[in-house]
Formats: sequence, C-alpha cells, structure tokens
Amino acid sequence: MMKVLGLVASPRKLGNSEILVKAMMSFLPDTVEKEMIRLTDLDIKTCKACYSCLPEERNCILKDDLGFLFEKLKAADAVIIASPCYALGPHTSIKMIGDRLLSVLANSKDYANKKCITAIVYGVPGWEGYAREAVNNFARFFHLDVVGSMIAQAAIPGEVIRQDVMAEAQSLALKLIQPATVDNSSVTEALICQDCGSSVLQFSPSGSIRCVMCNAHGTMQTTKDGYRLSFTPRSHSRFSPAGSEEHGQLLQSLKSKYIATQQELSEKRKPYSKDDWWVKIEP
Ligand SMILES: Cc1cc2nc3c(=O)[nH]c(=O)nc-3n(C[C@H](O)[C@H](O)[C@H](O)COP(=O)(O)O)c2cc1C
Repeated sequence: MMKVLGLVASPRKLGNSEILVKAMMSFLPDTVEKEMIRLTDLDIKTCKACYSCLPEERNCILKDDLGFLFEKLKAADAVIIASPCYALGPHTSIKMIGDRLLSVLANSKDYANKKCITAIVYGVPGWEGYAREAVNNFARFFHLDVVGSMIAQAAIPGEVIRQDVMAEAQSLALKLIQPATVDNSSVTEALICQDCGSSVLQFSPSGSIRCVMCNAHGTMQTTKDGYRLSFTPRSHSRFSPAGSEEHGQLLQSLKSKYIATQQELSEKRKPYSKDDWWVKIEP
C-alpha cells in the first residue's frame, strides 16, 4: 500500500498549512495510507556544528526526534510539506531541521525518488519572501523529488479554503500518484530557475544569470515579447544524489583540513579568547 507522509510546519492547530495538507491528502484515494507530523511537536535541537555526523555512517550525536523523522520519511513513498511564511522565510522548524541534514548528504538512497509536493501560505500580498524556495530546498536536501509546489495567500486560519486554492491543491496532490512528465528543455519562459524553480536569481548587466539556490548559470535574452532565460546544461544539480555526494566529500575534506591545521589555527585564535565581553545569561 502506498504511504503518504504529510509534514506541517505550523504550530497553528487547524491553520492554513494543516488544512492544505489534509485537503491534498483527501484528494488521494482511500487505498493510500496517510500519516501526518506537525514539525513543531518534535523536539529538534540546533546543529552544534561538530561534524560528528561526517563520515556518512555516523549518526548525529544529539538526542532528539530527528531520527524519528528520518525513519518516518524513509518509510513513506511520497511526502507533502506545508509551511507558513514567517519573517519572509519558512517556519523555523524547516530551518532547524534543514540545518541538521549534513548526515543525509551521502545517504540519498534512503529518500531519493520519493515524490514530494510543497505548499506555502503567506499572509500579506507581496510579503512571501523566499519561503517557497526554502521549503523546496529543504525537501531537496532530503533528495525528495519535488514534482510540484504551490503558494497561497491566506492570513487568517481557514482563509485558504477557497475554490482556486483547493483546485490547485487537488492538481498537485494528483501528481503524487500520476506518472511523472519529463521536461528536458533548458529554456524557461518564466523568470525562474529551470533546474530548481527558484525565483531568487542574480542578474548581471551583461545578461548572465545565476540561481542563488542551486547555482545554475545561464543567460537572459530579449525577445519580441519580453525576456527569456536560457540555462546552461550541467551533468548534475547540487540537489541530485551525485551533487550532494560531492558536497559531502567537500565537507569531509574540510573536516580533514580542520584536523590537520587545528594546532596552528588554535594558536592564531588564542588572542581572541582573552576578550570576555559576553553578557552573562542567567539560567
Ligand atoms: C511570526 C509570524 C511571522 C509572519 N511573517 C509573515 C511574512 O513575513 N509574510 C507574510 O506574508 N505573512 C507572514 N505571516 C503570516 C502567515 O504566513 C499567515 O498567517 C499564514 O496563513 C499562517 O499559516 P498557518 O495558519 O498554517 O500557520 C506571519 C505570521 C506569523 C505568526
């Protein structure tokens, strides 16, 4: 039986994110097993930057619910992630968990090829920021295959329940059970990254473009109707299993460099240890 896991990154009970996940799940047949997790109910600690989880066979040393989430994701066949926009970005739970995903870099096989759809809710027109990009990249750090994403404006809990939003939710949900359509074109009419769909792009006066999220490069050309972006094909993206394995190796080599240069650098760092301007925080 196909299993779909819904992740809700909002603390708000029956809020817009929760409703969207439930709506999407309800568009799937009864034969699909459905489970949901509210990310804010999990005990997730902040990454300590200790790099103990590298190399890949080691787990994170922090004792919290991250392992539980990993197991649930591994057991799922498809994933739905919904997050509100907070302070122009995703909900903190997305960032907190995203910061803990170094150990996943070289373990793509555990999560890869699971279809994923994402939904972002923002309250104020023009205030959506980079929330969608952050949520999609969170999914991609798990190597999930993001087959669709929607963003809806809705401030008050329940405001998301409207015909246009539900119709989009339905067509996205169906992508989880329909065969994938392949698009190999390197040209996009919309001003978004052809590789990861991000709208966070850097434009240079010479007409070159760069996706800030996945580092795809390309050019922008004028056409009789406006502009179009053309991206340079590359062997793999940073979010592909090969890309993240590469990144894992880079981090591993940095860890080795750290160990090799630790003594020398600790001498250089020493003078900074005498400055004690820290505010004493009472427990
Ligand atoms: C702390 C906080 C920060 C928010 N920041 C933004 C924001 O930057 N942009 C925006 O459009 N809406 C913002 N909102 C509004 C939420 O995105 C909006 O109410 C959304 O519907 C909440 O979804 P939920 O019901 O799933 O929690 C913020 C809400 C909160 C509580």
